[in-house]
Amino acid sequence: MANIFESDKLVSLFKDERVLYPDFVPDVLPFREEELSELVFCLKPASIGRKPTNVFVHGKPSTGKTVTLKYVLNELSEYSNRVKGIYINCFEYTSKQSILTKIANSLGVAVPTRGVSSQEVFSRIIAVMKTTKVIPIIVFDEAEQLLKDDPTKNLLYDLSRLPEQQKVLLGLVFISNDSSFLEGIDDRVKSSLQCSKIPFESYNVLELKEILFSRTKFAFFDYSLDKDVVPLCAAFAFKKGSDLRVAFSVLLKAGRLAEKKNSKSVSVEHIRASFSEKNLVKDEILQNLSQQEKDIIEFISTRAKKEAESGDLYKEFEGKYSDRTIRLAVNLLLEKKLINCEQIKKGNLSTRLIKLN
Ligand SMILES: Nc1ncnc2c1ncn2[C@@H]1O[C@H](COP(=O)(O)OP(=O)(O)OP(=O)(O)O)[C@@H](O)[C@H]1O
Ligand SMILES: [Mg+2]
Repeated sequence: MANIFESDKLVSLFKDERVLYPDFVPDVLPFREEELSELVFCLKPASIGRKPTNVFVHGKPSTGKTVTLKYVLNELSEYSNRVKGIYINCFEYTSKQSILTKIANSLGVAVPTRGVSSQEVFSRIIAVMKTTKVIPIIVFDEAEQLLKDDPTKNLLYDLSRLPEQQKVLLGLVFISNDSSFLEGIDDRVKSSLQCSKIPFESYNVLELKEILFSRTKFAFFDYSLDKDVVPLCAAFAFKKGSDLRVAFSVLLKAGRLAEKKNSKSVSVEHIRASFSEKNLVKDEILQNLSQQEKDIIEFISTRAKKEAESGDLYKEFEGKYSDRTIRLAVNLLLEKKLINCEQIKKGNLSTRLIKLN
C-alpha cells in the first residue's frame, strides 16, 4: 500500500511559505527607508572603528521594529568585520548572567555554564574587545524587561560606562513598545548613553497592502492568489490594529486550506474561512504552550478577578514547579502577549500582579 503521506493530487500554491513565518527577515522593508537610514547613520561609524551612537527604537506592536533591527544587523555584519551584531530578546534572556554569556559567546568567548561569576564573564568580554578591537552592536529587544530587576539594571549601568572606563567601543540599541522606557533609566546611565530616538509609526491600510504584496510575491506563485485576497487581508489587519502578524497567519492558513481542497488558487472565500476561525493567532499560540504555561493560564482563569500575584503562583505550584520555572513561564506568556504584568507595592516589597489579556 502507498504511504499515507504520498499524494499525487497535491497542488502547490506556495513558492516558499517560510516567507510568511513570523520571524522571517525579508530582503525589502517598504516604508521603513527613513528609519533604516537613521540607523545606518547612527551605527556606521563603528565599521571604521569610530564611536557609534546608541539608539532607542519605539513604537506600537507590529510596526516592524524587530524585523528592521534584525535586517540592519545582517547588513552590518555583511558590510564590516570590524563590527559584531548581537540580538538579545530580553524575554528570552532574563538574567544578567544569561545576557553576559550570550554576549561573550557571540564574541567567540566560550563560557562554562557553571562556576563563573558574571563579573568574570564581563572581564572576559572586555579582554576580547580590547584584543580583537571588534565593536559589538548589542540590540536589546523588549528592553523594558531590563528595568524589572536590579542586576539587569546594573548591567545597563556597567555597559554604559564601558567606553569611558575601559576605552573600548560598543553600540547599544534598545527596542520597546513603551515610549517612556528611557525615563525609567537611572539619570547617570541615561546621560552616558545619549540615545538617539527613532519612532516607528503604525502603518495605514495602503501601506499594509503594499507590505503584504511585497511579501506574498515571494511566498506564493503568481497564479496562486486571486486579486482581492491581499486587499482583504490588509483591511482585516488594519481592523485588528494594523497587525501584520494576523495577516501573515491568515494567508498561511488560507494557502494551506486551498492546497488541501486542491483549489487552483487562494480565493477570498479561503481567506474568510481562515479569518472566521475565532482568535486565530491566539488559538495557535495556546495549542503550543508548555505544561507549566498552560497550568498558569488555567490557574489565573479560575480566579475571581482573573488575576494573581507571583506569590500565589509559587504557592499553588509548590513542589510541582520551582519558582524559577514559574518566573520563566510567566516571562514567556508575557512575550506571547497572553498576560500582562503590573509591578505593585505590598508594604516594603514589590510584587508582580499578573492578569490575563
Ligand atoms: N515594512 C515591512 N515590510 C515587510 N514586513 C514587515 C514590515 N514591517 C513589519 N513587517 C512584518 O510584520 C510582522 C511584525 O513585525 P515586527 O515583529 O518587526 O514588529 P514589532 O514592531 O517588533 O512588534 P512588537 O512590538 O509586537 O514586537 C513581522 O512578520 C515582520 O516581518
Ligand atoms: Mg518585536
